[in-house]
Amino acid sequence: MIIAANLKTNLTRSATCKYIKELQICVQNSTQNVIVFPATSSLDSYESNVTIGAQNAYPVENGAFTGEIGLEHLKEFEIKTILIGHSERRHILGESQEFIAKKFHYFKEQGFQIIFCVGEPLEIREGSKEEMLTYIHKQFEGIDTTYENLIIAYEPVWAIGTGKVPTLEDIKEIHKELKKKSSAPLLYGGSVKVNNVKDILSVENVDGVLVGSAALYAEHFCTMIEYADELQQSRH
Ligand code: PGA
Repeated sequence: MIIAANLKTNLTRSATCKYIKELQICVQNSTQNVIVFPATSSLDSYESNVTIGAQNAYPVENGAFTGEIGLEHLKEFEIKTILIGHSERRHILGESQEFIAKKFHYFKEQGFQIIFCVGEPLEIREGSKEEMLTYIHKQFEGIDTTYENLIIAYEPVWAIGTGKVPTLEDIKEIHKELKKKSSAPLLYGGSVKVNNVKDILSVENVDGVLVGSAALYAEHFCTMIEYADELQQSRH
């Protein structure tokens, strides 16, 4: 399974270094595919079995894009994984679908592993199921859903950082729909915690989780990785 931590605008470089070291201990005995997205200023070549990914980068090698980093800054640390389409970039930073698709295309051409996020805001969730699916399908406009290095993350906006999670039945239903769209591994994200991760990972068509706030403590994130291992062992 894919167990990913989005550290967002948290943990300094030294705190991230300590965090990755702590993770390394639990990851050594795990069969999970663990990915960590540190803050941009904490990107580095960490000696670890954990895959390090970028939360964001501008679709360019380098150039005049104040405040952004480009491909060469990722290459410096051999980073080949990137998060694209996260709801905070869509809704807080105002990234358009067109720009998201441009970014996707650029990093696809570079062979990056792309974790592509989709998910509906509350007002859409409160409408009909058809409206919700139409909304989510629009978030795939311009995106190559057959890309072999693609991972999709379904993250309902209203569940991110709120402690609210859809029912397991709802997750099952939407993941079933999203699997019709792409055969890429499909993660669930949005208020995943130590106490719900096992149930969520047990849902059909959930191939992993993308965790924000609950992953900020290495100990908690390690527990989630252990739970994923336990679950996988119990299936064999
Ligand atoms: P959360 O964030 O776990 O804090 O809800 C998830 C995410 O934004 O990826």
